Amino acid sequence: MRIAVAIVAVALAVPASAAAASDGLARTPPMGWSSWNHFGCGIDERTVRETADALVRSGMRDAGYRYVNVDDCWMAASRDSAGRLRANPDSFPSGIPALAAYVHARGLRLGLYTSVGARTCQGLPGLAGHERGDLERIASWGVDYLKVDFCGADRVTRAEPAPAYARVRDALVRSGRRLVLGICTWGRGTPWRWGARVGHMWRVAGDIRASWRSVLHSAVRSARHAGAAGPGGWNDPDSLEVGNRGMTAREQRAHFSLWAVLAAPLIAGNDVRAMSRATRRILLNREVVAVDQDRRGSQGRRLRRGRHEVWARRLSHGARAVLLLNRGRDTEVLSYRLGPRRRYRVRDLWRHRWRRSGPVLRARVRGHAAALFRIPR
Ligand code: GLA
Repeated sequence: MRIAVAIVAVALAVPASAAAASDGLARTPPMGWSSWNHFGCGIDERTVRETADALVRSGMRDAGYRYVNVDDCWMAASRDSAGRLRANPDSFPSGIPALAAYVHARGLRLGLYTSVGARTCQGLPGLAGHERGDLERIASWGVDYLKVDFCGADRVTRAEPAPAYARVRDALVRSGRRLVLGICTWGRGTPWRWGARVGHMWRVAGDIRASWRSVLHSAVRSARHAGAAGPGGWNDPDSLEVGNRGMTAREQRAHFSLWAVLAAPLIAGNDVRAMSRATRRILLNREVVAVDQDRRGSQGRRLRRGRHEVWARRLSHGARAVLLLNRGRDTEVLSYRLGPRRRYRVRDLWRHRWRRSGPVLRARVRGHAAALFRIPR
């Protein structure tokens, strides 16, 4: 009886009528780029256009990175005389519709950012009191993705975030445009419980930083809610720090591998106009991207924790991905028992080689690094 009451209560707070999970917009985790990790508030239309061009030129678009997301700070500090939200005339002088057209002409999609509070996290105009008008306007500009932050919302909603985000979803549905909705409460209000009925991805933790510690923290947070993810709605450990200063190349490969095993949205957070070869090799490792984008949509879990960790994910056609993660500082041989068979064929997704394994898979893994394997049925 208690369970029934709880289910009814959740259903009332977040009616499933316009369930995001079933609209087909995020059948696999969204992929793209976001301005925040690298550029912060220093973003302008020229950088966004050059980024769109770089996504095409580098092959990233064709590898699946489709969304070009402008995070906080695209909007003017004040609304126009009619109270309408507008782009910052200094940094986005051509306006958002022109930017959307530019991005669309290159086979890409445009993302924007707002917050449910009166102010965004950078103190710029947010949705509170303007929900309907702002969301209609954003949709009418041809935007394809909207990240909705939770800054300033405590005072506005005072309640749990779920109803506030459900109102955003309803306004977007009414606009008639199909947009991916990214929920960003940093895990507040347990978005893994209701996120899939409201949006397409939900942040599970606070902001990522380009450090090994931060990456592991976000990954562990996401793994806790693996059961909540699936085609249509995904746990979001935040956009990638691959290619940003702060981690070694090995740490960055481990970061990317973890995101793939976690079926995380792959939103690059670097300056893709000026990528090193090492960065390019990580973001464009199609075998790892294929793990992330596996159609089955089962998020992976951490099977063993400690200095030597094992993370694994089920893939379609009875295959699986196994990640051996060395959190220690020294090179060591890590192992994992694959099963009862005498032989397995395993694909090393960073060396791009097939190898044979006995029932116990073993790999030498350097400190702060990971090995990632795909094991067919
Ligand atoms: C919050 C979000 C970040 C980013 C900033 C922008 O901190 O969690 O991802 O969007 O706001 O101000």
